Amino acid sequence: MAELTMDLGGKHALVTGGGTGVGAAIALSLAQAGAKVTITGRHLDKLEEVAAGGSSISCVSGDVTDPTSVREMFAEATARNGAPQIVVANAGAAMSKPFAKMDEADLRAMLDVNLVGVFSTWRAALDPMLAAGWGRLIVIASIASLKGSPYISAYCASKHGVLGMTRALALEVARKGITVNAVCPGYIATPMTDRTIANIAEKTGKSRDEAEDILKSGNPQHRLIEPEEVAETVRFLCSDAASSINGQAITLSGGEP
Ligand SMILES: NC(=O)c1ccc[n+]([C@@H]2O[C@H](COP(=O)([O-])OP(=O)(O)OC[C@H]3O[C@@H](n4cnc5c(N)ncnc54)[C@H](OP(=O)(O)O)[C@@H]3O)[C@@H](O)[C@H]2O)c1
Repeated sequence: MAELTMDLGGKHALVTGGGTGVGAAIALSLAQAGAKVTITGRHLDKLEEVAAGGSSISCVSGDVTDPTSVREMFAEATARNGAPQIVVANAGAAMSKPFAKMDEADLRAMLDVNLVGVFSTWRAALDPMLAAGWGRLIVIASIASLKGSPYISAYCASKHGVLGMTRALALEVARKGITVNAVCPGYIATPMTDRTIANIAEKTGKSRDEAEDILKSGNPQHRLIEPEEVAETVRFLCSDAASSINGQAITLSGGEP
């Protein structure tokens, strides 16, 4: 039987949205596992702060909603470290609004970053992976890929959409040495959740702690998930040991259905 390794030595991993929250934790974890890591995002200052935490992390700025920018990011990353064999589409945004107050522009903004942005990222990544016969495509989706919640219909639509794309692409590349998976967390302790807590507090007049408690109460373990928990799941999916996990929604939610 083949020896299965968790070591990512020699692999090049590209993580979008790697300057904050979950993306930063993923970058540090993959670097620790031996990968050369490229982190991308719109704010170079945040990327550079993360890169200071690992000598094998380099930064490329770019916007995932602009396909030209995505192609340029991949060209720059490839020129430095070769084509990425691991690509984590983590960049994303959230919006909370009652459906009755939304317009088409609100919906398109969510689809642009959370669905089309992932498409452009994976599209730029796929051809070299097919040529190499090995690859890992991972998206940080959400528990909102699997269930609806009030006031986040545009976010839910974008995250359901990206899970559908994951499942379809996984079947297309199943015999090419490439796996495609979605990690689906509940609320994580990141800047995105900080903004959600501030928004709930502002809209309801509750304290910050009370607002945070509302988010925690959706998780049967009554807590926020740590970014490192998401990062270690990604690290496992990148390993040889996870070669037969394909087209899956890996839920990190303390049991939230
Ligand atoms: N926080 C949660 O509770 C939670 C739960 C489930 C899933 N998720 C998902 O986890 C992922 C990471 O979120 P997070 O919680 O770590 O939030 P975060 O700290 O706000 O991180 C989002 C990252 O995405 C980048 N980004 C946003 N729009 C971008 C764009 N147009 N182009 C390039 N980069 C862009 C941001 O960097 P720049 O601003 O520098 O571009 C930032 O680094 C997201 O996909 C989110 O939907 C989060």
